[in-house]
Amino acid sequence: MTTRRRFIQHASALAALATLGPLSGLAQATASGELLRRRIPASGELLPVVGLGTSRTHDVPLDEEHLAPLREVFATLIEGGGSLVDTAPSYGRAEAVCGELAADNVRPRLFLATKVSSSGREAGRRQIEQSFRDLQTERIDLIQVHNLQDTETQLQLLRELKEQGKVRYIGVTHYLDSAHERLLEVLRREPVDFVQFNYSIGERNAERELLPFCADKGIAVLINRPFQRAALFDKVRGKPLPEWAGAELDAGSWAQLMLKYILANPAVTAVIPATSKPRYMADNLRAGRGRLPDEDQRRRIVELFA
Ligand SMILES: NC(=O)c1ccc[n+]([C@@H]2O[C@H](COP(=O)([O-])OP(=O)(O)OC[C@H]3O[C@@H](n4cnc5c(N)ncnc54)[C@H](OP(=O)(O)O)[C@@H]3O)[C@@H](O)[C@H]2O)c1
Repeated sequence: MTTRRRFIQHASALAALATLGPLSGLAQATASGELLRRRIPASGELLPVVGLGTSRTHDVPLDEEHLAPLREVFATLIEGGGSLVDTAPSYGRAEAVCGELAADNVRPRLFLATKVSSSGREAGRRQIEQSFRDLQTERIDLIQVHNLQDTETQLQLLRELKEQGKVRYIGVTHYLDSAHERLLEVLRREPVDFVQFNYSIGERNAERELLPFCADKGIAVLINRPFQRAALFDKVRGKPLPEWAGAELDAGSWAQLMLKYILANPAVTAVIPATSKPRYMADNLRAGRGRLPDEDQRRRIVELFA
């Protein structure tokens, strides 16, 4: 695809965003006012607290029919003050899709995070080289060892890439409560800039040890599965959002309330809900604006999901 064609498509995605009927309330709200940003302890760089996950949602054919709505999701993220996109080579075509959407004028406004999921140094090196090609970039902001696969070997490789300036930050990930102890063991012995794990109103195990540990050690934290792959919406289906969610916390949807619960923990650097829909992206970004719950309000949110 030519640079000019990509530019026109991006410009029309932004223009479409400005004129979206039923979405305009959300989109405009994210465009006005500041999205909260938090510091990456390793560098002091500020990262917007709401990003975008791409597992399943971005595994689509690389044709315009499938790319168009995802282009709008990216445009909504950027126009709303966000930058973080999390992907992985194991998410089917998602990395290549992200590369296509990030190309040209959009790339400088993104913080691109991907992963390595290989065993052995050579396999890891090949997979990372492919990520650079698929993401169409010379430098990747963050590469994380996916689900602690062959952690020591891959972290060594990532450290070398960081020294060469090809990768800005390195980290490790997992998505299960049962792996939190192993994550802690790795974080105690390996210096990393970022860790990514599961934390949500439905999975609060990280509050016990992982989150305080990361705050103490100065490790940036990305939160995956904030909606437990959308299962959390089933718990509140048909229930009206309580009036105090808006009045006390500026939350206009269940999604915002769930994300605000996560962001209220100061150890969290950013949360990465996945979506294929611009209106959900705009909704999620609103969680990073306005008030966050205190301890008492967090207890009340937990009760709503009990
Ligand atoms: N091991 C790892 O490193 C690991 C593991 C898991 C996840 N992750 C990362 O974390 C990201 C997030 O986790 P996840 O994808 O498992 O699940 P998730 O973000 O908890 O849930 C995604 C689902 O929520 C829906 N959704 C998003 N925003 C919404 C809104 N405002 N209102 C209603 N529904 C909404 C999406 O619907 P639509 O599909 O209709 O848009 C999607 O089906 C992943 O995409 C990936 O980048 C990493």
